[in-house]
Amino acid sequence: MANTQNENQDVLLSVENLSIGIREGKRVYPAVDGVSFQVHRGEVLGVVGESGCGKTVTNLAVMGLLPPSLSVTGGRILFAGQDLTALSEKERNRVNGSRISMIYQEPLTCLNPLLKIGTQVGESLRIHESLPKEEIRARVEKALAEVGLPDPKALMDCYPHQLSGGQRQRVMIAMATICRPDLMIADEPTTALDVTVQAKILRLLKHISVKHHMSILFISHDLAVISQICDRVMVMYAGKICEVAGTDELMRAPLHPYTKGLLRSIPTRDCRGQDLPAIGGHVPAVTEPRTPCPFADRCPLAVPLCREQAPVLAETAPGHFVSCHVIQKGGRL
Ligand SMILES: Nc1ncnc2c1ncn2[C@@H]1O[C@H](COP(=O)(O)OP(=O)(O)O)[C@@H](O)[C@H]1O
Ligand SMILES: [Mg+2]
Repeated sequence: MANTQNENQDVLLSVENLSIGIREGKRVYPAVDGVSFQVHRGEVLGVVGESGCGKTVTNLAVMGLLPPSLSVTGGRILFAGQDLTALSEKERNRVNGSRISMIYQEPLTCLNPLLKIGTQVGESLRIHESLPKEEIRARVEKALAEVGLPDPKALMDCYPHQLSGGQRQRVMIAMATICRPDLMIADEPTTALDVTVQAKILRLLKHISVKHHMSILFISHDLAVISQICDRVMVMYAGKICEVAGTDELMRAPLHPYTKGLLRSIPTRDCRGQDLPAIGGHVPAVTEPRTPCPFADRCPLAVPLCREQAPVLAETAPGHFVSCHVIQKGGRL
């Protein structure tokens, strides 16, 4: 049955009450717990949270690429109205690479060291569109030029190790966009790059998104990076969403104590296992018991209710959603 969300033509991706479980022995632990969000056409939606909050497993579920020990235990992932969790592997492969594509933190792990750049960038065109060889070459050259790489013709005959980190990430972006997907998932795409290269890659992604009306689900542990490219931001903590708002509003007037902590202590690269200066404690491992509000143990505002009843994500101002008992009752940090 279609609901009002799906009837909205502007919605490209609608994740509804998604839960993802991790099997360890006979037990299943929740890595993602009832998460719902939407990505609109042409929108860049940021997903932010410390390491271990469930950002990557959420996007792997969207791509249908969860490792064998993880599985979708509930909910739906609707892409252009079609439930991705119900697709066969063959149908899934038709969507991946052509309508949804992905770029990762470290392009070297995705690029084949033995294949020329031109061959790799043209790969998805060969799979998804039956085009003559010459046309593929021309499209690859154009794609490499579009991501700002100099001398694309010569570059097609290079191997990945001959390129810098920033150039390799540009090649990945060319690979991910050559079939003109509707949605790109970018998981920490600039985390391995130095700050000036990072800024250029972010500008490039934004430019491509605007030019081709391509949506991006942009994942990062770094709110400073998120704020440079995203239209809206979703803050995740311990497998749940704690706040969603337009980027300007979130940066200017964050509501959730966790978001405020993230803003006060923009974390450095890979903060896994480390405490944030402004928020003591750590993200619980999936095997650790969780309080109904998973942030309660680290929260300066926590009241007994936070340990008795899970808060729900509620709209407190137009387009601004927060999941916190205290804030919803008018409390302030
Ligand atoms: N392949 C895996 N096997 C077991 N646990 C995993 C696996 N991948 C992720 N997890 C666990 O799932 C939780 C969410 O991880 P992840 O989505 O990678 O977080 P993030 O991307 O926000 O850093 C973490 O507790 C992590 O340890
Ligand atoms: Mg991750």
